[in-house]
Amino acid sequence: MIPPTQRRLAERRRVARHRRALGYWGVLLAMLLSLWVGTTVVPPAWLHTPALFGHLASVIAGLGAAVLLELSGLLWMLRRAALDDLRRVERIVSTLAWLGIAGLLATGAFLQPDLGEPLTAIKMVAVLIAAMNGVGMTRLTDELARLPGGVRFSALPRRLQAWCVWSAVVSQSAWWTAVLIGMLNTASR
Ligand code: HEM
Repeated sequence: MIPPTQRRLAERRRVARHRRALGYWGVLLAMLLSLWVGTTVVPPAWLHTPALFGHLASVIAGLGAAVLLELSGLLWMLRRAALDDLRRVERIVSTLAWLGIAGLLATGAFLQPDLGEPLTAIKMVAVLIAAMNGVGMTRLTDELARLPGGVRFSALPRRLQAWCVWSAVVSQSAWWTAVLIGMLNTASR
């Protein structure tokens, strides 16, 4: 007979796993839809400037949220902040990050991406990695939610430490790759 607390925990994990699977599929479908619109629809010329403005605003929201979150994680690693502070920041900025990604996919679709261009193809892979990593991070957040708010980063098991660092490195690398290539594309048009 499984104790009720363990059963509740297992049920919560199952729901979280299900939600994450939906998240991965949602990201993939949104990305495919954005690229399909971007490569088939020819938007009117007047739409370019507002779409580019929306794209930049979304970069500010998405990248800003990612930088804030990973900076808070770094401060926790360096013992300049508590895990509780990181969790508070995560709760505030995660919605902003997803709004940023949704905005980038929506506005990018009207900027006519040229997928035949190798740099643009690399950018799209970076976008997909940033968004998928965002979904994957919810599992890490769940693991960290089970720890006491004052726990030190150095007291974590090696596996969890490596997971935190890896998620942050993947996130920042993917975001900055997309930003850099986006800027290069605009500059070369
Ligand atoms: C993490 C996601 C993304 C980031 C960080 C990002 C970032 C950027 C940046 C910084 C620029 C340059 C804007 C400027 O210098 O004025 C740009 C341009 C561009 N982006 Fe993105 N972008 C993202 C996703 C996308 C997606 C999903 C698409 C298409 C479906 C897309 C299509 C474009 C195009 C076509 C341009 C060039 C626009 C032009 O100058 O005519 N981007 N992006």
